[in-house]
Amino acid sequence: MRLLTGSARLAGVTGWPVAHSRSPRLHGTWLARYSIDGAYVPLPIAPQDFATVVPALAKAGFAGLNVTIPHKEAAFAICDVVDPSAARAGAVNTLVFRNGKITGSNTDGAGFIANLRAHGVNPAAGPALLLGAGGAARAIGAALQDEGVAVTICNRTAERAAALALQLPGAKTLPWAQRSAALADYALLVNTTSLGMAKQPPLEVDLSAAPHHLVVSDIVYVPLQTALLDAAQARGLQIVGGLGMLLHQAVLGFEAWFGVTPEVDEALYRIVAGDLL
Ligand SMILES: NC(=O)c1ccc[n+]([C@@H]2O[C@H](COP(=O)([O-])OP(=O)(O)OC[C@H]3O[C@@H](n4cnc5c(N)ncnc54)[C@H](OP(=O)(O)O)[C@@H]3O)[C@@H](O)[C@H]2O)c1
Repeated sequence: MRLLTGSARLAGVTGWPVAHSRSPRLHGTWLARYSIDGAYVPLPIAPQDFATVVPALAKAGFAGLNVTIPHKEAAFAICDVVDPSAARAGAVNTLVFRNGKITGSNTDGAGFIANLRAHGVNPAAGPALLLGAGGAARAIGAALQDEGVAVTICNRTAERAAALALQLPGAKTLPWAQRSAALADYALLVNTTSLGMAKQPPLEVDLSAAPHHLVVSDIVYVPLQTALLDAAQARGLQIVGGLGMLLHQAVLGFEAWFGVTPEVDEALYRIVAGDLL
């Protein structure tokens, strides 16, 4: 058993609720693998307490936090500094406490791109169609644009698609009803909606117009392989699942808090997937 010393480094994940988070398992695996004197813990913080508790954790010696629903915008607001990834995403999912300052970043976009590359996919291979216009779509859309990709936003609520396109200058929008017919024009399809997730309605997309080179990515990872990915695989299209994005987005926070660049590999994937396999 690995025992902590008095100088152990501390980090954690805060959400409300937070019990469903796989991040303690993920970071705990890396801490054990690299024999680091540190701990990563779940921190359920109610929304009304967020702005007082988080700076107090910084004062109590925490190195930083991951931030999940519903705190990503509140985290942005308490930062002394936000890096360009957070500014572009309009939300923070990673906080680093250093020298009395709170710095926020958003690692979702970088995690998405790193996961594509880990699957041998060139993110800049061609135009991307993003289904959804929420927080994840904004982070992923910005990251794809930074790779030089032309991005189209397609969302059930057209006003939200238009609002996101304003935040991602140059992005186009597409009516939700045209999501299947338009596929011929794209190299990458990304589901950033919550559709297809366990206990949510299915995502209805007809892939019959998809070109053979279309890469289909789903950031939903419960189940690990969604019905969208099943349908794409059945047509012989390359697929990229969502759990890899979660693993890759965690690398930057771990590095900042614990000083080691951790590896994302198959063993880690299996441990974090756990009961989903
Ligand atoms: N793999 C990862 O690391 C990772 C990271 C972040 C998020 N995620 C997952 O990504 C998903 C979205 O997260 P988010 O933070 O972007 O959520 P969000 O901000 O709440 O956005 C949800 C999106 O889903 C759409 N949607 C919801 N119900 C719908 C329905 N019945 N029909 C059509 N569209 C529907 C919404 O469309 P409207 O605008 O029309 O409501 C909106 O575009 C979640 O499942 C989350 O778990 C995964």
